[in-house]
Amino acid sequence: MRDRQRGFSHPIPSEITPQEVWRERRQLLKAAGLGALGVAAPEARAGVARAGTLPALPASRNAALSTTEPLTPYDDVVSYNNFYEFGTDKSDPAKNAGTLRTRPWTVVVEGEVHRPRTFDIDALLRLAPMQERVYRHRCVEGWSMVIPWVGYSLSSLLKAVEPTGNAKFVEYTTLLDPARMPGQSDPVLQWPYHEGLRMDEAMHPLTLLAFGLYGEVLPNQDGAPLRMVIPWKYGFKGGKSIVRIRLVERQPVTSWMQSVPSWYGFYSNVNPTVSPQNWSQATERRIGEGRFGGLFTPRRKTELFNGYGAQVAELYRGMDLRREF
Ligand code: MTE
Repeated sequence: MRDRQRGFSHPIPSEITPQEVWRERRQLLKAAGLGALGVAAPEARAGVARAGTLPALPASRNAALSTTEPLTPYDDVVSYNNFYEFGTDKSDPAKNAGTLRTRPWTVVVEGEVHRPRTFDIDALLRLAPMQERVYRHRCVEGWSMVIPWVGYSLSSLLKAVEPTGNAKFVEYTTLLDPARMPGQSDPVLQWPYHEGLRMDEAMHPLTLLAFGLYGEVLPNQDGAPLRMVIPWKYGFKGGKSIVRIRLVERQPVTSWMQSVPSWYGFYSNVNPTVSPQNWSQATERRIGEGRFGGLFTPRRKTELFNGYGAQVAELYRGMDLRREF
């Protein structure tokens, strides 16, 4: 839906549901063997990376921070994406993100720090030992995945630049380059995509600076060459293809807060009882689960903090999570 006055567009539930039904129908056709005859839309996977085709990114599993739930199939993780810089349909990023070149790539870390630095991506890859973390990934649109990310805690990077006592929040920003990111020619959001965390959230061990998934470097459509992953928050907090991390004193205004302030709060913790977007967050559909594209698989109950309450609830003690959503 496009709001002409404000110049943004955003999927509303009535638009999301038919798209999911369309995708499920495609999977149903595939399961029935009709995909091979060209009945299902084969073009949707045209540009999709295949497992084993990207450079490996070895890492040892951090079992303490990983869920043991079944993984979402690789094919789904790399073909069902939100990355509006490459289009607003779920299949657009996989088709269009080939224009993104991830070398050379630098990340500026600045603001309220004693040692501001510009890191080359290859130096960042060596900054701390890579870990595999299997996290739940919950999108505000009502779907979820389980993804084996590869990376290290954002805190490792933030410690390296020595935050000052004034650093209260972290703002992180995606590349701005309409030539490499054609979706930025469309005023669907105020570019570049920017998101933020409170300092204690950013320093929490679960907050991951991810460089890969499934043991390989990130496919472009998933946010190459590096992105944020905050598993107890809705997926849109996980900014992709980051070029700047700025430590600041005041709470940043994020892209989604700028676009639809009544729908998107700064915290955006997964919470089944809070639905500012006016569509329920009580349940979710786990992508890739069940036969026939999950058509007959019951939706799962969404958990507060996406099930990470034991680790993160303490961060929000005394806060009214209904007001500060
Ligand atoms: N980052 C950028 N730069 N642009 C985006 O459009 N979409 C967000 C987030 N990060 C987005 C982004 C949303 S809405 C979600 S749900 C997740 O990325 C999706 O991540 P995935 O495609 O790897 O599942």
